[in-house]
Amino acid sequence: MTGLRVTGWGTAVPERIVTNDDLSATLDTSDEWIADRTGIRQRHVGGSTAGLGAEAGRQALDRAGITAADIDFVLLATTTPDQVVPGTAPAIQDALGITGGAMDVNAACSGFVYALVTASGLLATGGIKRILLIGAETLSRFVDWEDRTMAVLLGDGAGALVLEATDDEGDLLSWNLGSDGSLKHLLYCDHGSTMQMDGKEVFRRAVRIVVESANKAVADAGLTIDDIDLLVPHQANLRIIRAASTRLGMDEERVAVVIERYGNTSSASIPLALADALEHGRVTTGDTLLLTGFGGGMTWASAVLRWSL
Ligand code: ACO
Repeated sequence: MTGLRVTGWGTAVPERIVTNDDLSATLDTSDEWIADRTGIRQRHVGGSTAGLGAEAGRQALDRAGITAADIDFVLLATTTPDQVVPGTAPAIQDALGITGGAMDVNAACSGFVYALVTASGLLATGGIKRILLIGAETLSRFVDWEDRTMAVLLGDGAGALVLEATDDEGDLLSWNLGSDGSLKHLLYCDHGSTMQMDGKEVFRRAVRIVVESANKAVADAGLTIDDIDLLVPHQANLRIIRAASTRLGMDEERVAVVIERYGNTSSASIPLALADALEHGRVTTGDTLLLTGFGGGMTWASAVLRWSL
């Protein structure tokens, strides 16, 4: 049996912070509306997807105590690649001096968990020993800054994990991935355009989808929700997080929330929330984590991890 072990983690956000008050200076909105309706107070804006991804990746390598030469594959979850061609993973590979394979995975805000599961499959082939898994986004490049409905929601950032093949079951206990392409009109961005969303409909569906997917993953791990020490949800809206965690039966102490500082960073939001929990000592060796997200597609994805670092 080949499993997956997390051996390092890192994050990166651009220096520039745009607060709700900054947005209120040019848009018909307010800190009160944004904070009440979304939980967001500020977002980081700037940089490139490759630049942020490489910075988070470098940190993860350092924490794992390894160098670029030890990595066989760069797997990047992103919905905002720097170019259509080539993918952005090769640029990160080049920036870090890594050799081997490199590719992008686009499953919108579910991307990080999709890529985590893809990584576990790559490690199971036996030909790859270590993967640098990154979720990185520069959503600010695809926002119409005059559209108050989207501009207040999105932010830029990156998070990364080093994953290593193990001979036992490893840290990934179970997963659940899904997609319903008939709902692609709910959240999309055409070439040369900006993000468009039917926010109300996404909200309504997101809560149900996340709860279903998370419960399936927990059951597939042979666990119950009481066994989960920390829920690490995609950070799209605090009200979605609260509604989903309440339905799952998880109180606030068992939920990682960073949306206030970062906004919705799509593929980067789960690793940013995980890193924050790690930094604040909210995760200890042996803890069971439930990662869950949803996004454009619509896609959804959940994974149960036993933290062994
Ligand atoms: N500031 C002030 N007022 C606003 C703003 C704003 N930024 N945006 C909308 N409003 C107004 C609307 O025009 C509307 O006014 P009206 O009643 O006069 O028509 C009122 O506020 C209520 O608007 P709603 O759209 O009903 O507000 P809602 O409570 O649904 O919140 C939101 C909107 C925050 C977008 C919510 O629907 C949401 O979070 N949806 C899900 C978003 C999401 O999860 N996206 C997925 C990921 S994004 C990605 O993948 C990149």
